[in-house]
Amino acid sequence: MTKDVTTAPAPMRIIVRQGWRLEPQMATHADEMFVVLSDPAIYEFENQPPASLEALRHRYALLESRGSPDGSEQWFNWVLRLDDGRAAGYLQATLYAGARADIAYELASAHWGRGLAARAVQAMIDELATHHGVRHLSAMLKRANHRSLRLLQRLGFVASSPAEHCRRDIVDDERLLERACDAGALCVRECLPDDLADALALWRVSPGVGLSDADEPTALRRFLARNPGFSAVATRGTLLVGTLLCGHDGRRGLIHHLAVVEAEWRRGIARALVERASSALHRAGIGKCHLMVYADNAAALAFWHKVGARRRSELALCSLTPNGDVDRSC
Ligand SMILES: CC(C)(COP(=O)(O)OP(=O)(O)OC[C@H]1O[C@@H](n2cnc3c(N)ncnc32)[C@H](O)[C@@H]1OP(=O)(O)O)[C@@H](O)C(=O)NCCC(=O)NCCS
Repeated sequence: MTKDVTTAPAPMRIIVRQGWRLEPQMATHADEMFVVLSDPAIYEFENQPPASLEALRHRYALLESRGSPDGSEQWFNWVLRLDDGRAAGYLQATLYAGARADIAYELASAHWGRGLAARAVQAMIDELATHHGVRHLSAMLKRANHRSLRLLQRLGFVASSPAEHCRRDIVDDERLLERACDAGALCVRECLPDDLADALALWRVSPGVGLSDADEPTALRRFLARNPGFSAVATRGTLLVGTLLCGHDGRRGLIHHLAVVEAEWRRGIARALVERASSALHRAGIGKCHLMVYADNAAALAFWHKVGARRRSELALCSLTPNGDVDRSC
């Protein structure tokens, strides 16, 4: 059953992930956040730094009430703290009736470019969906803010309709994006390091996926870090239902570990994952990508044929181990 966010406020929780956590923001965070929010790079496209420490303390005290006086909105703010103790930014969700929420986020520029914002925003989305009954998310941003647009697209957000732009009074230099986080809604988004445990669990039960030492968590995290934005997962709510790893070497792309949970086969999920990876490769100027299929995996061969891949009968796959050992594994 969908919770009515206006009548059932749930307490905010600390959200812990590897290397960082989200702490429910309190008035006492104002002093350290004043330093974080004084970074001018944050305000290239909109807003401005807090006018004074006093003003920020006042604002944080207000936000700690967690809701508008008329009860129509819930205000959730989290401070993003790294394991070394530094505060890096904040994440914000404003919840409305109808299980809807607007989200926003700001990270100091010292922490940009490492995928931290995407992981933190996804963690907040999971929390909003599982503990606060949110089913639909929106985010508003300046049209010129390509960095933020990219982040939202990586997380599966798409442009809202013109009618919705109009209804929400979105002005010309702004855009509105949205995403469902309904338990039943399919979302295809970037694969983040936090997805790897669930991905490994799927691969272990997927007959056509071969696992090796290249699938140790460290190696997989390295693969994602070297190829940001190319690998994808499909989710329904917080359940992972499909995966695809993708990267490139500057010349050609490579796809690994396409898998969909068996109960969801033949619903277009694998095709959607491949299309997302293909678009990312195309944008990166990569004209072709390769993938390996066990020769006896008739289902996968049929799938790849359907989505336009050509089987290369003129090629044989060879493997070389750089330390000189003879490779006898798969
Ligand atoms: C292969 C696999 C990823 C396909 O996933 P899926 O989500 O069912 O595929 P889709 O629904 O996106 O199918 C896309 C197209 O391929 C076709 N297709 C998918 N599986 C097929 C099969 N077993 N036989 C024939 N055609 C198939 C679909 O009919 C569809 O065609 P259409 O769009 O014309 O209807 C899935 O079966 C799987 O996870 N298998 C186990 C792991 C595996 O073998 N991975 C491949 C590693 S290379």
